[in-house]
Amino acid sequence: MRALFHLIVLLAVVFVEASASDGIDDFTYHGFGSANVSLDGVAEISPNGLLKLTNSSTQGKGHAFYPRPLRFRAASGGGVSSFSTTFVFAIVSEFSDLSGHGLAFTLSPSRGRPWSLTQQYLGLFNISDNGDASNHVFAVELDTVQSAEFDDINDNHVGIDVNGLRSSSSAPASFFSEETGRYANLTLMSGDPMQVWIEYDDAEKLLNVTLSSTGAPKPRRPLLSSAFDLSSVVFDSMYVGFSAATGQVITNHYVLGWSFKMNGEARPLDPTRLPPLPARAPRRRGKLLVAMVSLVCALFLATVASGTVGCYLRGKMFEEILEDWEATYASHRFSYRELYMATKCFSDKRLLGAGGFGRVYRGSRNSTEIAVKKVSRESEQGMKEFVAEIVSIGQLRHRNLVSLLGYCRRKGELLLVYEFMPNGSLDKLLFDQPPKSALGWSQRFRIIKGIALALHYLHEGWEQVVIHRDVKASNILLDGEMNGRLGDFGLARLHDHGGDPRTTRVVGTLGYLAPEVPMTGKATTSTDVFAFGVLVLEIACGRRTVEAQGPPEQQASEVVLVDWVWQCCGRGAILEASDPKLGGNYVVEEMELALRLGLICSHPEPATRPSMRQVIRYLEEDAPLPEMSKDGGAITAS
Ligand SMILES: *[C@@H]1O[C@H](CO)[C@@H](O)[C@H](O)[C@H]1NC(C)=O
Ligand SMILES: *[C@@H]1O[C@H](CO)[C@@H](O)[C@H](O)[C@H]1NC(C)=O
Ligand SMILES: *[C@@H]1O[C@H](CO)[C@@H](O)[C@H](O)[C@H]1NC(C)=O
Ligand SMILES: *[C@@H]1O[C@H](CO)[C@@H](O)[C@H](O)[C@H]1NC(C)=O
Ligand SMILES: *[C@@H]1O[C@H](CO)[C@@H](O)[C@H](O)[C@H]1NC(C)=O
Repeated sequence: MRALFHLIVLLAVVFVEASASDGIDDFTYHGFGSANVSLDGVAEISPNGLLKLTNSSTQGKGHAFYPRPLRFRAASGGGVSSFSTTFVFAIVSEFSDLSGHGLAFTLSPSRGRPWSLTQQYLGLFNISDNGDASNHVFAVELDTVQSAEFDDINDNHVGIDVNGLRSSSSAPASFFSEETGRYANLTLMSGDPMQVWIEYDDAEKLLNVTLSSTGAPKPRRPLLSSAFDLSSVVFDSMYVGFSAATGQVITNHYVLGWSFKMNGEARPLDPTRLPPLPARAPRRRGKLLVAMVSLVCALFLATVASGTVGCYLRGKMFEEILEDWEATYASHRFSYRELYMATKCFSDKRLLGAGGFGRVYRGSRNSTEIAVKKVSRESEQGMKEFVAEIVSIGQLRHRNLVSLLGYCRRKGELLLVYEFMPNGSLDKLLFDQPPKSALGWSQRFRIIKGIALALHYLHEGWEQVVIHRDVKASNILLDGEMNGRLGDFGLARLHDHGGDPRTTRVVGTLGYLAPEVPMTGKATTSTDVFAFGVLVLEIACGRRTVEAQGPPEQQASEVVLVDWVWQCCGRGAILEASDPKLGGNYVVEEMELALRLGLICSHPEPATRPSMRQVIRYLEEDAPLPEMSKDGGAITAS
């Protein structure tokens, strides 16, 4: 009996191994001239067969993927296949000691990363999805810039990234030298071709990454050898390829050859068969140049201060647009020079975020912290009205609003200056945290109340009705005392004024948009209430309003939060919708109130939604919430 059992186990094991080794994915490219790869962004293949992930443009990103998805599991739910890959790359910058960001080998559910950002995001992630386990992205980064926000160890490292850019394991770029028995440094941005080997062994759950200069044999010891289980990261099938991104410095990221094999060792690359890199122009010393420019700048500023020469240069570098009508707003106007200094030349290190409206930098000015939002704008049309509006909005003061301190204008660019909020945005705290550091219920309930007060103030507390138009978790910022503060109000108007009159643009964010908005094209206080309702549900449930489930290739079924809470409500089990991360630590009455309030506010029928004034009464328990159903609207409005 026992023997039979063993035999069955043995057969099962043999069967699984046999089917796993069915993977025939095995390819080798010496140059990409005749290779079939899928390119996007600025990536291209040069006539001599070099894969050029980034071209000579700043702020660029490029991807190259093997066109077919590869099966990483022989059977759905089964073990992940082992794989091995090697490639030769070169990072050629216009400077010898400064380079634009880096290059990564990646496994991704999609053939491209359309939402990703350039610069330190390497064309892989963006600010909101960085670190999100639902990305299902694995990468090995070759990074030439130290990004403090991702805890990078230096500006020349190799890292293993899972779903985000904070590497789970990293090491300074180097290789094991047999001669010395030590690791010897390599400079990724040297412009010289280098080779990388990445090997994943699923039986051992081990990932090795090895680096060396091209032509040298593969070093005996890997640079990184990391205990790692790919099974939680990959879907059954994934795309494999490369991503690279640049920032301010012109850099070309090249791949010269690539070999990949599933369940086996990738075939070696023959260095003599790789296409040559273009002849290199003599390169300047970037850091020296930057230092010199700063020195020259400082000298000029000194001369400017002493009032002699330099007006012309100062004019160019800090050029702004200032029209006569702006004289009235002088006290709200910041000089570009001031903002430039406050943000240390808008340095990447000071980037707080980037969203639909632009990039936000942290700055300090007269020892107070500010946030500077750069909004790019092609058209100057409607600017006068918009500035008038933001200045008047700037007069709004409420403890649950982020104050707008002023603005500045440049050609094609508008800069808005806000109070700095040290605790970041609510979406990060709500969705991107492990359960143990999840925001507690009392804080969440206080945030709900604060935002209700802020919206009530915008709708009714001022001489004119101000409609926010873009209430959402990423627009709720938290101040030093963890008070929720509504930010970005009125900015959505920017798209109305001076927008192309032929296209009516629906402003707002999917998932928070009331159903009548696409039809009427009009934002009202009631559409703000709708978005507030969705936000309250997100806070109570700890889930995003629309969450994709299942792997993307299987036509992700989207779970709409509001519908799901309605289902729980219909079953008489509304508390089941509460955030599991809270582990039941909440005041039942408050949770129920929040969930039901969220449903009423996000009711499809505008007439059923309460006003913000009523919302505050419900939250203060001055009035009971009306009973209601989804299709029938309010059953009894008390
Ligand atoms: C880089 O590629 C993009 C997209 O293909 C193109 O628009 C741009 O002109 C290129 N830049 C240079 C400097 O070649
Ligand atoms: C490249 O691969 C894609 C996907 O497998 C295929 O549809 C296409 O026909 C191929 N193109 C060439 C030129 O082989
Ligand atoms: C190699 O690089 C590391 C990290 O940058 C540095 O600490 C070390 O001193 C370097 N070693 C040599 C031999 O240059
Ligand atoms: C990874 O490196 C370790 C340590 O050198 C080695 O024992 C192991 O065999 C390597 N695994 C693979 C798959 O190369
Ligand atoms: C970030 O990427 C995700 C997809 O991974 C996308 O849904 C989201 O809209 C992107 N966010 C921004 C601000 O672009």
